Amino acid sequence: MSKHLAICGGRPVRTNPFPAWPVYGKPEEQALLRVLHTGKWGRIDGEETATFERRFAEYQGAKHGIAVVNGTVSLRLALIAGGIKAGDEVLVPPFTFLATASAVLEANATPVFVDLEPDTYNIDPALLEQAITPRTKAIIPVHLAGLPADMEAIMAIAERHGLLVIEDAAHAHGAEYKGRRVGAIGHVGSFSFQSSKNLCCGEGGIIVTNDDRLYEACKSAHNCGRVPGGAWYDHHHMGGNYRLGEFQAGILNAQLDRLEEQCRRREENGRYLHERLSRVPGIRPQARGKGESRHGYHLFVFRYDESVFGVPRARFLKALEAEGVPASPGYVVPLHRQPMFTNQDFGPYTAPLDTHPGLDYRKVSLPVCERASSSEGAWLYQSVLLGPRSDIDDIATAFEKIYQHRAELPA
Ligand SMILES: Cc1ncc(COP(=O)(O)O)c(C=O)c1O
Repeated sequence: MSKHLAICGGRPVRTNPFPAWPVYGKPEEQALLRVLHTGKWGRIDGEETATFERRFAEYQGAKHGIAVVNGTVSLRLALIAGGIKAGDEVLVPPFTFLATASAVLEANATPVFVDLEPDTYNIDPALLEQAITPRTKAIIPVHLAGLPADMEAIMAIAERHGLLVIEDAAHAHGAEYKGRRVGAIGHVGSFSFQSSKNLCCGEGGIIVTNDDRLYEACKSAHNCGRVPGGAWYDHHHMGGNYRLGEFQAGILNAQLDRLEEQCRRREENGRYLHERLSRVPGIRPQARGKGESRHGYHLFVFRYDESVFGVPRARFLKALEAEGVPASPGYVVPLHRQPMFTNQDFGPYTAPLDTHPGLDYRKVSLPVCERASSSEGAWLYQSVLLGPRSDIDDIATAFEKIYQHRAELPA
């Protein structure tokens, strides 16, 4: 009997590619040439970076922006500017890119992992308070996939305990929580403009804040410890050269003109896909409705239930790919299970070991994250949400088809 699923030789739902990423054209070309011909290629002389900082901060509803070389450095500088130092503990989720935790180590502090809400995969505010000790100084909530974390609950906890809140908004350009764009809901926010991100220039990042003191501290730290009015070779604070270059800023200025329309389209298509996939047994999209007024949809995260399909996640994702829908199992190793943490291989950053002699990440157990990483979590990439409604229908049809013919799935 002939099989239906493409992975078994049947006809795929879709053979056309989804929209390519990044989207670019004349404006980016003109921006690069504009910078080239000024001969001012660094931010010290040029205007592109300063213009972008102003525009992006305003877009996110923040008073200040400081553009930097990537979204790892932005986290580290925010920690340093916030006074985080050796011996301090910083609460972070374990289901994120390495940078969220490695930036803490690079600030000489100790990352403490806190498990996730089972339905959003964002850091669970109910568990945060239990993780607080007298040494806790900051929280870094990640807006996973662009879904804002529960900032109201997080800020209330932070206020009660006098903690700094750094939003890791690397996935969340244009995302909104209760009508406010993310980034400056906490004390300071960090974005990445690395190639895959919803606003990108190859490599780049930005710090945003409403706090004048944090702004001055980040600005100085990203520019070799210089201060306003100081001479070029006057260095007042610990810092380095983390300034974003003018070519990248030129690209970002052009990309920023495209961002709002892309955000609206991702949100519209994402909501529709969420509705469609919620009806497929064994598939549960990342939960919405906990305060986000707009999902950033850097990723479309869903939870996969192996018991419904009868095959492990990897097999399902292969079947999906065969139907023409590219997907990823996501963060398959939780951060606390990464060799860097289990072996405590922190390079020159030994302060966490010196200040926490009993520290042993092998003893950390975070069951929600471990389940998400090992078997349940998966995602689609943001660019599949940039096409017309018919693309989303194809995606939903592929999921429905695999469910309907799940008995064909090879073990
Ligand atoms: C959640 C998160 N935080 C931080 C970063 C670091 O950004 P960058 O790659 O620009 O250093 C990333 C990038 O992948 C990320 O996904």
